[in-house]
Amino acid sequence: MEIMTVSLNNVTYPIYLDYPLEKIGNLFHKHQCGKKVLIITDENVAKLYADTVIKSVSSVKNVHLSVVKPGESSKTIKVAYQLIKACSLFGMDRTDTIIALGGGVISDLAGFVSAIYLRGIRFISIPTTLLAQVDASVGGKTAINLPWGKNLVGVFHQPFFVVMDFSTLESLPEREISQGMAEIIKCAVIRSKKLFALLQNVPHTDTRKYFKFFVRECVSIKKRVVESDEKEEKGIREILNFGHTIGHAIEINSNLLNHGESVALGMLGETFLAVERNFCSYLLFEKVRALVKKYGLPVKCDVSVKKVSRSLMFDKKTRGGKIRCVMPVRIGAVKTGVEISTEEVISNWEKWQ
Ligand code: GLY
Repeated sequence: MEIMTVSLNNVTYPIYLDYPLEKIGNLFHKHQCGKKVLIITDENVAKLYADTVIKSVSSVKNVHLSVVKPGESSKTIKVAYQLIKACSLFGMDRTDTIIALGGGVISDLAGFVSAIYLRGIRFISIPTTLLAQVDASVGGKTAINLPWGKNLVGVFHQPFFVVMDFSTLESLPEREISQGMAEIIKCAVIRSKKLFALLQNVPHTDTRKYFKFFVRECVSIKKRVVESDEKEEKGIREILNFGHTIGHAIEINSNLLNHGESVALGMLGETFLAVERNFCSYLLFEKVRALVKKYGLPVKCDVSVKKVSRSLMFDKKTRGGKIRCVMPVRIGAVKTGVEISTEEVISNWEKWQ
């Protein structure tokens, strides 16, 4: 077990890495978490881990379980309302706690509910997927979607603590692993030449052996970025959005592509635009594309560029009507706040695929 601490202006919280879920009740004993705990999870994760978490936490707290359908379709105001209702009917007060048990969707959704119920109660993040461990569970971004755009309603609300049990990664199917790999590739491109080289050199069959290392590296990068710019106001945290401008516009228009796959395509689209502007070389684009391919992610997008460009206008990073994205300049360094036009996205769409 290892503890990393995220130190922000008004709050400091621990991330327990490699901490067994069966012992999680001890952390509830150690930290002040109120009397009641609502666990929010999805149907898939509930089958695997709800009993373990309930057993451990109910030794010290009064526990209730709320289970939602898996996938982005649960990140709606309707599902959020159902969960708020569950908090209220369970009689939770401001001293009580929500657990987000699951992947990125659960982290965003349960975090959002905890941020707005009674103007905010504690939440504890227990990410069980690679994607949630390397990205979603740390940093306090919570959100739900609107039908025309991803994460358009949300609040910054930092977790009270985060617990990662690496053994939960063992049960993940390949496609779920690939989604996480997309965020790991993102981390390497924006901040780590060393991680990028490792991703290039690891034999594909050995990927799982490196999960602990990948999670530690990405959490440590994310922690430092969030500590320097908690609310994405200084142009630092924005680097974490690499691939997410075009990626979110693809994701919202696709019934087939998941978040990681859309971000992978977004990284390719945004890197290609960077090549066109001479911010980076075509060789860099080829290196990113090779990693995307290596880790089972798509390099071609069958979502129409018309739909993508319409959705880009609703991207939450847009300022004064200008669409903004992050572009690499070399491996480990990016430019933020680069304005792009829908025409530019459309005219280059075929060229990077
Ligand atoms: N997922 C990007 C961020 O947390 O800022």
